[in-house]
Amino acid sequence: MTLSKRRATSALLLAQVLLLPACARETSPSAPEIPPLASISAHLALTPPMGFNTWNRFGCDIDETLLRETADALVETGMRDAGYRYVVVDDCWQTSRDADGRIVADPERFPSGMKALADYVHSQGLLFGLYTDVGPMTCQDRPGSLGYEEIDAATYAEWGVDYVKVDWCHSEGLDAAVSYRKFRDAFDGAGRPMVLSICEWGRNAPFEWAREIGHLWRTTADIQPTWESILWTADANERHHELAEPGRWNDPDMLQVGNGDLTLSENRAHFTLWALMAAPLMAGNDLRAMSEEILDLLTNTDVLAVNQDPLGRQGRIVLDRGYGLQVWAKPLEGGAVAVALLNRSGDAIEGYARWSDVGLAAGAANVQDLWTGESLGRHVDDGRYETRLRAEIGAHDVRLFRLTPAPD
Ligand code: GLA
Repeated sequence: MTLSKRRATSALLLAQVLLLPACARETSPSAPEIPPLASISAHLALTPPMGFNTWNRFGCDIDETLLRETADALVETGMRDAGYRYVVVDDCWQTSRDADGRIVADPERFPSGMKALADYVHSQGLLFGLYTDVGPMTCQDRPGSLGYEEIDAATYAEWGVDYVKVDWCHSEGLDAAVSYRKFRDAFDGAGRPMVLSICEWGRNAPFEWAREIGHLWRTTADIQPTWESILWTADANERHHELAEPGRWNDPDMLQVGNGDLTLSENRAHFTLWALMAAPLMAGNDLRAMSEEILDLLTNTDVLAVNQDPLGRQGRIVLDRGYGLQVWAKPLEGGAVAVALLNRSGDAIEGYARWSDVGLAAGAANVQDLWTGESLGRHVDDGRYETRLRAEIGAHDVRLFRLTPAPD
C-alpha cells in the first residue's frame, strides 16, 4: 500500500471512529451515561425546567401583587398541573444592600419581602426563583452579586429560593466559568438545592464549561416577540443540540408565546420548536389575561411530553428543503421520534419526510398528530414516494407528529 493510500485509509478509519459515537447516539434507545454535576443540586432539572418569568412581558414593571396573581393563575389555569412550576422574578426586584451587605428588595414594590412571596408561591404548590448578575450591577443597573456571592446564596437559601438566573451585564474583566462556578459553590455552601440558570448569551463559549456548573445556559441574545427573532434564536440554539442531556440544557431564552403581534401559527411554531429542542419552557406572557388559544398551546399534554421526555435529547434539523420546509426530529424514550415539519415561508406548502430522514428504520410506524391528538394510523415507509409522511403546512406554521415504530 502506498503512503498516500495508507493515509487515506487511516483517515477513513479515523472518520469512522469519530463518527461512530454520534451515530450510535442517534439510534440509542436510552439516555447516555452522564457524570453527575458535582453539586447538591445535581438531582434538579432532570427534564427541562418549566415555569414563568416576569421579564419578557413586564420588564421592570413588577411587584408582589403581579407575582401572587401569576401564581394563582398558574394554579387556576391548570398550568401548574401541566408542569409549569417555577415562578421567577427577573431583574428590578432589588434596590440596595443593607449595612451587612445583604440584598434589599424594593420596599415599595415588594413591601412584604421576598421570603413572604416565596412562602406564598410555595403554598400554591409552586417553586420560587430570583434573578441576579455576576457583575456589580444587573442589566437594569440594580445591585449585582460581585463580591457578595456567598451572602446572596445564604440569603436566597433563607428565603426559600429554588432557582436563580444569573446574568452577565457589567462583567468586564471577569472570566465567565470562574464567575459562574462561584455561584454553584456558594449555593452548595448555603446548603439549599437551587437550579442555576446561566445567562451569558452564549458569549463565552458556555458550550465548553457550562454543563459542569449549571443546569441551563443561554445560547443566544435576548429573544423578541417576532417571527424573525424566533427563527434566528432557534437556528442558533439548534447548533449545540449534542450538549443537552438530563440536568443540562441549552437555553434559547424564555417563551414569547402570547406576546407582541405573533399570530397563532407563529406562536404554535415557536412553542413546537422550543418543545422539540428540549428547551426550558418559561412562559413570558401575562398568565392572568391570556386567550384560551394561547393557554391551549401552552398546556397541550402531548407536546409537553415531547419536551419533558426523560431521554433528554435535543431535537435538531435533519433536513432543510430550501423552499421554507425544514424537518426537525427529536428521538424519544422507547424508540419513537417526534417530527416537526416547519414552514418558515409566508406561503402554505406541502411538507414531507422519510423514515430514514428522521432516524427510523424502514417499515411500519404508528403516526400521531400531536397538536390535534389525532391518531393517523399505521404507516409503512417502503421506499415509495406516496408512503412518506406528508402534510399541508400553513404560512409560518408547523405540524408535529410522533412516529412510533410498529413492527409486525
Ligand atoms: C438580560 C437578559 C434578559 C433579562 C434582562 C433583565 O438582557 O438576557 O433575559 O434578564 O437582562 O435586565
